Amino acid sequence: MARDDPLLVPRASSDHSSERNDEEVDALLTGQRLDRDERNRRPGFWREVGLFAWALVATAAVIVLAVVYQHQQNLDHKSGKWAPGEKPTGKRNLIFMVSDGMGPTSLSLTRSFRQFQSGLPIDDVLVLDRHHIGQSRTRSSSSLITDSAAGATAFSCGKKSYNGAISVLPDHSPCGTVLEAAKQAGYMTGLVVTTRMTDATPACFSSHANMRSYEDLIAEHQIGEYPLGRMVDLMIGGGRCHFLPNSTEGSCRGDDKDVVKIAKDKGFSYINDRKSFDGLNLGSSIKLPLLGLVADTDFPYEIDRRHMNDKYPSLEEMARTALKALSDATKDSEQGFFIMIEGSRIDHAGHGNDPAAQVHEVLAYDKAFAAVLEFLENDSTPGILVSTSDHETGGLATARQLRESYPDYKWFPGVLANATYSSEYLGNRLNDYLKAEGKDADKKARREYIRRHMLEDGLGVFDATDEEIDALFVEGKRGDYVFADIVSRRAQIGWATHGHSAADVNIYASSPDDARALIGNHENIEVGSFLADFLDLDLGRVTKQLKDLSTAPEIASADQYSWMGAPLGDDIVVDELDSYHGDFKRMKRDGTIVDMMEKRGVEKRGGSGGCGCGAVH
Ligand SMILES: *[C@@H]1O[C@H](CO)[C@@H](O)[C@H](O)[C@H]1NC(C)=O
Ligand SMILES: *[C@@H]1O[C@H](CO)[C@@H](O)[C@H](O)[C@H]1NC(C)=O
Ligand SMILES: *[C@@H]1O[C@H](CO)[C@@H](O)[C@H](O)[C@H]1NC(C)=O
Ligand SMILES: [Zn+2]
Ligand SMILES: [Zn+2]
Repeated sequence: MARDDPLLVPRASSDHSSERNDEEVDALLTGQRLDRDERNRRPGFWREVGLFAWALVATAAVIVLAVVYQHQQNLDHKSGKWAPGEKPTGKRNLIFMVSDGMGPTSLSLTRSFRQFQSGLPIDDVLVLDRHHIGQSRTRSSSSLITDSAAGATAFSCGKKSYNGAISVLPDHSPCGTVLEAAKQAGYMTGLVVTTRMTDATPACFSSHANMRSYEDLIAEHQIGEYPLGRMVDLMIGGGRCHFLPNSTEGSCRGDDKDVVKIAKDKGFSYINDRKSFDGLNLGSSIKLPLLGLVADTDFPYEIDRRHMNDKYPSLEEMARTALKALSDATKDSEQGFFIMIEGSRIDHAGHGNDPAAQVHEVLAYDKAFAAVLEFLENDSTPGILVSTSDHETGGLATARQLRESYPDYKWFPGVLANATYSSEYLGNRLNDYLKAEGKDADKKARREYIRRHMLEDGLGVFDATDEEIDALFVEGKRGDYVFADIVSRRAQIGWATHGHSAADVNIYASSPDDARALIGNHENIEVGSFLADFLDLDLGRVTKQLKDLSTAPEIASADQYSWMGAPLGDDIVVDELDSYHGDFKRMKRDGTIVDMMEKRGVEKRGGSGGCGCGAVH
């Protein structure tokens, strides 16, 4: 205290230095320029008294302000709020949520659906709505429309890359990720998803691959079979099939590597079903590291999972479990944890153009978001939540013009509320039926079976026409798309594509103060930079390590990056936008592309959905 803290010390009027201080405070408060010559004027008695009184009042005010500010600072640190421009310090947790494929219209769709279904007032909003802070622009290095791989690389590395890239840059070198850097800085790390653990978003945090389709390779990286060794402490999701050897039932690996066994040998505990998930006791009985693969491939959509709750946990349950486990595991350590939690299948519902499946996916995500907020409220370690999407999917519109005449301004949530299953689920039931008893049934019997058991019981649609039903039998037509279209038309919901779109997506946070740098409109890579900054991570150092052959001489070979899988052909554009080559005429309606484009190497990029990623999402 004392002399070097002039604002807090009461001063006598005879003290010249304090008189100067008083004038300076006065000048600061009134915004007037301080005239140094004033000091040489002999002050009169009243001026002396006035200055003394002013000094007393000002000092008292400053003390009060200082105490309040101090108190506020303590409060802020408890709740994880950081003053503007201030970098967080001390132990802290970072929870990053990804709503894959959820654009702004998904929120409008789901909000209105929920209000309709539960009879809620107009101002009843989603939890997400109350935490909206900004928007993210999503283009990749190779396209104005990103895929999930380039989208997640923007978050994991803070860098733009090409569609299909799993934390690999356009120059085909690996980039260090937030999760890897966090682990190396002493944080515990986790991934929770409702798709395959090896799918693009979780893969980008925990592996490096030239193409997202190298899921067998990604599985190996995720348990530590790559230059950095084991970086993930907790994984709960689907995609078990990529971890099982091809000799085992339920495997989708191309080789006979038993990745589960390798993981166990490395010390992972392993769970593979609902029963063993329940054994985790919502996180209080977990032994880390944990490999939790609770579904063969993707989880069922939430709209279907509700009917199979004894087989699959919800995203909320998995999120709560992971947070409890990571919080307990870091209770006595210097650093907290980083976790990525993904509502993976909002995207799939968009690809399927299925609005009924989508609203339930978004509601499940909203619940998980709320559970994370509750965790943050209770946990003694400060932490923040940031949530965003990698892109929009489907070109969803809460409007649809069905006829030539000017359309009504309406869409009908009641149609979605009538559906009890997804179009994906019903499409699978349709295929089962057509392979079994429906194979020999006549047209009329088939129509009646499908009308009753699928359209009425599954979708709550009672007015399907014969033409609509017959479209389900057209060779080569996807039943799930037909079901989804039957629902979408009735609800007057529009879709522009079965793929992604270039729409900006929303950014959410536990509070705007928790993520000031993300308020407003941003490039997606700024989200990645924010994650790294918040934990004070040096991604460049990890990148160097990944590029250094001596990090893992037993894995690195003559070809420095062979551990990232087969390289891309030189003809594949990775860092510039393609341009129009009369594609409209050359692209046939069934999606095949005629020769000239094939010569340009487009067939490789276009062949599997046009995203250059070897998979459709
Ligand atoms: C399983 O993988 C091995 C190589 O690891 C391969 O030789 C074999 O053909 C595969 N078997 C099947 C059925 O795909
Ligand atoms: C948070 O605390 C409340 C009140 O003590 C409790 O009911 C709730 O279960 C806690 N939630 C979590 C996620 O710990
Ligand atoms: C929803 O289902 C009910 C029967 O359960 C039916 O009467 C009603 O017409 C359906 N509503 C819509 C919008 O399809
Ligand atoms: Zn995506
Ligand atoms: Zn997708």
